[in-house]
Amino acid sequence: MRHVTTTQLTKMKARGEKVVMVTAYDYPSAYLVDEAGVDVILVGDSLGMVVLGYETTLPVTISDMLHHTKAVVRGVKRALVVSDLPFLTYQTGPEDAIRNAGRLLQEGGATAVKLEGGIEVCPQVRTLVAAGIPVVGHVGLTPQSIHVFGGYKLQGRSQQAAQKLLSDARALEDAGIFCLVLECIPEEVAAKITDALAIPTIGIGAGAHCDGQVLVLHDLLGITGQLKNPAGEPIHPPRFAKEYAQVGEAMRAAVKQYSTEVRSGAFPAREHSFRAEEGVAPQGSAPATAPTRK
Ligand code: KIV
Repeated sequence: MRHVTTTQLTKMKARGEKVVMVTAYDYPSAYLVDEAGVDVILVGDSLGMVVLGYETTLPVTISDMLHHTKAVVRGVKRALVVSDLPFLTYQTGPEDAIRNAGRLLQEGGATAVKLEGGIEVCPQVRTLVAAGIPVVGHVGLTPQSIHVFGGYKLQGRSQQAAQKLLSDARALEDAGIFCLVLECIPEEVAAKITDALAIPTIGIGAGAHCDGQVLVLHDLLGITGQLKNPAGEPIHPPRFAKEYAQVGEAMRAAVKQYSTEVRSGAFPAREHSFRAEEGVAPQGSAPATAPTRK
């Protein structure tokens, strides 16, 4: 089966076909979402929050991204794999960007990288594209700037902010990105940007007019909403995420059932155990008293 390519995504936009993107962070999840037929798998730095238990994406390192990207790539046959450049691996300039993005392709096996930001990251985008590294842009609520925004808030609400998003999107397209993620912005603004660009926009909390959609896998599967953070507070999935299954509840119920059966002796049953050949038994008699631990 052939891999999805960056140019195919642009053709999908031209044909009016929606692009399906989802995150994955390890071999089994990548294997299953690829088999389900998604077009793009994003190894998002959201892994810091949904897999590693951090409160933000800021502590995620390039080593974390490489570790998870390698696992994802091993599980994928068809989808295009995009890996996130984590915080401070590209904001510091084109040289850092190319070194770190190069590692995600060369060592990690990703096909493309994603970075956050508008006009200010265009020099990095130009350098990466000139070196043959395909780039996905990301504007709107960019989680690596969470402390600048003061929380996970809707972006681009005012006329001025919406205008800035549109100019950032145009500048990124001119710099050479092949796809743009629009996160948590009003649907009218996302629609305007989508119509202004030839490359596909992928929305997350950006309405239905985008050329495609992306969700964080753990939100979609109903895992996030079952968790508490390390401080013991419930984690609320974002309002824009839809739960398509209750995998968190199913996981808890399965492990509870297993625990009950181990404690009662119901597990393992005969079919989970092995038998020696007829007449074979270990030599020697059982000790009269139970051995004590030294
Ligand atoms: O890190 C991530 O998962 C992302 C998506 C939310 C777009 O950037």
